[in-house]
Amino acid sequence: MKVSHAGKILGEVRLPGDKSISHRAAMLASLAEGISRIENFGTSADCAATVNCLRSLGVKIGVDRSTLTVKGVGKNGLVPAAGPLDCENSGTTMRLMAGILAGHGFRSTLTGDGSLRGRPMKRVITPLTEMGAEIESEDGRAPLHITGRTRLRAVEHVPEAASAQLKSCVLLAGLNADGITSILESVQTRDHTERMLRWLGAEIATIKQGEGTRISVSGDSILSARDFSVPGDISSAAFFIVAAAFIENSRLKIRDVGMNSSRAAIVDVLSGLGADITVENKRETCNEPVADLAVRGRSPIGSAGGYLISGGIVPNLIDEIPVLAVAGTQLPGGIEVRDAGELRIKESDRISTVVQNLRRMGADVVEFDDGLKVGRSRLRGAEIDTFGDHRIAMAFAVAGLFAEGETLIHGAECAAVSFPGFFDTLASVIY
Ligand code: S3P
Repeated sequence: MKVSHAGKILGEVRLPGDKSISHRAAMLASLAEGISRIENFGTSADCAATVNCLRSLGVKIGVDRSTLTVKGVGKNGLVPAAGPLDCENSGTTMRLMAGILAGHGFRSTLTGDGSLRGRPMKRVITPLTEMGAEIESEDGRAPLHITGRTRLRAVEHVPEAASAQLKSCVLLAGLNADGITSILESVQTRDHTERMLRWLGAEIATIKQGEGTRISVSGDSILSARDFSVPGDISSAAFFIVAAAFIENSRLKIRDVGMNSSRAAIVDVLSGLGADITVENKRETCNEPVADLAVRGRSPIGSAGGYLISGGIVPNLIDEIPVLAVAGTQLPGGIEVRDAGELRIKESDRISTVVQNLRRMGADVVEFDDGLKVGRSRLRGAEIDTFGDHRIAMAFAVAGLFAEGETLIHGAECAAVSFPGFFDTLASVIY
């Protein structure tokens, strides 16, 4: 895919449904009693992998463009699949499905592509084993062979990483446990699972405890089917926000974007730096905040002092760090990201893949174990390797808009993992 320097970004876009919320909607609607309709279900390959797994486990799911109709089987009602369940590239599918399957009294196998089979699963194996599931793995990595139990032991778990996938895995297993299962979070991660469980009628509590939060779910919870409307994906919006905010004279409206505060920190960070972003028409759908965003381009943004992203905010913009690093090249004081070691175990080692690609474009970058530092740089078009990582493909498409000359993105089709149609939507707003 070729990307050239952009004059400005103009127009209006509405983005596909949020990936994290779509996975959860399909899973929880499957575990609910009754029929749910899910509108604006994410079009991503990752979400399709979740739907395929659920169908293989006996759930009837109808798809009409971006609307899903799910006939729930109840929280204990899945049936054994005929073969291994392929989670493809999707960590959310694998880790959340592991929690669900731990509470079903049969054996299942979860596998995925080369990237997913290389990612750490011990973080979910540990609590699920403690709850009574038996899990065989390849030294803590997939394939995971899970022999579940219809009634797990309720536990109180302190997660080994600030991970919403891990938290959600334990909460989903807790739906089939013999009491109250709690997870003690010291740093807040995205809370879509908690919000959706509440929306479907589960007994769930979120209580501040010291510096952290205790999230508890009752194994007596019953989920009742409800209709969903999935907000647009803030993580997909991030690429458009950065492009429009930093290119002078741009004017872009992004409609119906999920603005959950545990996800939308990128808007606060960019606004804090001086980007012109207006949050309009705030509302709620299905227990999730939604708004329209109006972005106007200006240059320069930010002051001469560098900007540091570290600590508790990191999980709230973890997926946006690649594009924020690209934005750093446009800031007078650059950007530094620390406490983000989790980036090394995403779909690619995102610290390394961002650093390598920024260097190819002539940027001034320093790599740390837990982050990176990017100085203001004049980018030049280059050949980019996505390393099969969708967010790298899209972040460097934005870099290509800022750069002089032409940028060639090899393997750009992997953008479909979260956003099929990304390049067409982007092309529609470039002038
Ligand atoms: C996700 C949680 C985050 C995020 C991923 C989606 C989720 O991963 O990076 O893209 O839907 O729960 P971790 O739980 O590994 O931080």
